[in-house]
Amino acid sequence: MIERVPMSADPIPTLIINVNGKDTALAVPPTKRLLHVLRDDLGLTGTKRSCEMGRCGACMVLVDGKPVNSCLAMAYQCEGKSVTTIEGLSEGGLTQVQQCFLEEGGYQCGYCTPGMVVTVTAMLAHDPSPSDADIEEALSGNLCRCTGYGGIRRAVNKAIALKKEQTG
Ligand code: FES
Ligand code: FES
Repeated sequence: MIERVPMSADPIPTLIINVNGKDTALAVPPTKRLLHVLRDDLGLTGTKRSCEMGRCGACMVLVDGKPVNSCLAMAYQCEGKSVTTIEGLSEGGLTQVQQCFLEEGGYQCGYCTPGMVVTVTAMLAHDPSPSDADIEEALSGNLCRCTGYGGIRRAVNKAIALKKEQTG
């Protein structure tokens, strides 16, 4: 007779991830994705769950300043890294990019908007004066089912123009 060994109660590893500027200790199984930690464990529901296969960009966050689909990132891959969600971006109130989305009608239902804002914020931090092709490339991983993209493009163009004005 085979002796059945109970699944060991291996301790769940504790990760330290800096989330929105705070070092956060998280007991996370190795199979858990960053998206689920953010939404389900930390209540950061501005990061949206949609396709969960890297196609829509609704779950976009910054990891060490770079846009990442949090549905594709395992939480353990973020150990020691810095994760910024839409809540972290707007801690001090609406950012300029958010304000531009608001003023230019860059959203309708708003489900894609946090991911769009994260992507545009990362793009402008990297290049304050992107070409049309750069904008299309940056936003190619963010899908919107509502707006037809016209308002989104106006919002991005306005954010670029404002940034130019401010930096002279
Ligand atoms: S939910 Fe992550 S890309 Fe769609
Ligand atoms: S505003 Fe509804 S999906 Fe983009």
